[in-house]
Amino acid sequence: MTPPVATARPTRSPAPPGKALPPPPGRLGTPLSTVLDEALEGGDLTRLAGREPVDRRDRFLTLLQIYDLHTAPLDVVRDRARFQHHPAVAAVKMVLEQPWVDELEQDWQQAGPLTQADDVPRVVQAMRAVAAKDRLPAAYRWLAKEAGWEEVVEFLALEGGPDGGFDDLVALCQIGLSGSAKLELGKNYWDEMGCGDGTGVHTVLHQQMAEAIGMRHIPRSEMPVEALERVALGGLLSTNRRLQPEMLGALGLLELQAGPRCRLVLQGFDRLGAPKEAYPFYLEHAEVDPVHGKDWMDKAVVPTVTERPEWGPRIVKGAWWRSVTNLRFFEALRVQLLEERSAA
Ligand SMILES: [Fe+2]
Ligand SMILES: [Fe+2]
Repeated sequence: MTPPVATARPTRSPAPPGKALPPPPGRLGTPLSTVLDEALEGGDLTRLAGREPVDRRDRFLTLLQIYDLHTAPLDVVRDRARFQHHPAVAAVKMVLEQPWVDELEQDWQQAGPLTQADDVPRVVQAMRAVAAKDRLPAAYRWLAKEAGWEEVVEFLALEGGPDGGFDDLVALCQIGLSGSAKLELGKNYWDEMGCGDGTGVHTVLHQQMAEAIGMRHIPRSEMPVEALERVALGGLLSTNRRLQPEMLGALGLLELQAGPRCRLVLQGFDRLGAPKEAYPFYLEHAEVDPVHGKDWMDKAVVPTVTERPEWGPRIVKGAWWRSVTNLRFFEALRVQLLEERSAA
């Protein structure tokens, strides 16, 4: 469906015969992400009217700023958070999300028979098929067996752990659920919280690992576009209520795939002699996520599809979206790191 704001964009007069129209606002000029940044800082949001991103990278940098208004810590967004629901920001969000969702829908058309999963057995089978497809991407095998120490650190800095921001995503995904699915997401969240032990909270374990290996924080400006899209997918799913089924599938896929990938990271650590403080984060996920994946399927997905069969294909679709977005990211990252190696 075309969002109302898209149709509300100013129409442009046809070009005089023999003359090309000038580019639409923002097309070749200042990136929309820069315009938005300045608008949020200065408070003049009228500058956003009719703007479009200059390219795909600009699309995700812009959307990530908007998602920050919804979910980033207040220390990060500060006073900008007052524009979270400003009509001009909402208009940009919809105008940028719609073509992206259209692209994701095209990706979904490549899933073949998986798109027909409309009952419990077929949904379970389809989710497992998506998880098995490229469960161990070449990037992780390379990490385990070939990458040098600096390459491992760079990879993990961009990867952000199997579940960067996962706890907040689980919290947002459970809104409006009930019964077994609600309980399972609550239990999963509690595990993210270290089952009440502050030193075991997964984000704390991640910080501990990052310090141990001297991992730098990579700003968005340095991230490949595939990494930006991968992070932005969480924002797309968590700020659009209509995409709750897709979110349930995307988060479930993450749990289904994380265990074996974390084991490959640990192999890389062993091979390269990583400090012991680097281990707990990946050890925890290597052990616990296979259980989380199974429980997410048995206790969240199955009861939800039993109750609402129409959610079935959409849950699988969300898993597919996460899968294709992940694979684009892993491959781009592997190629980038290999290019850096050959240039060194
Ligand atoms: Fe976790
Ligand atoms: Fe998990």
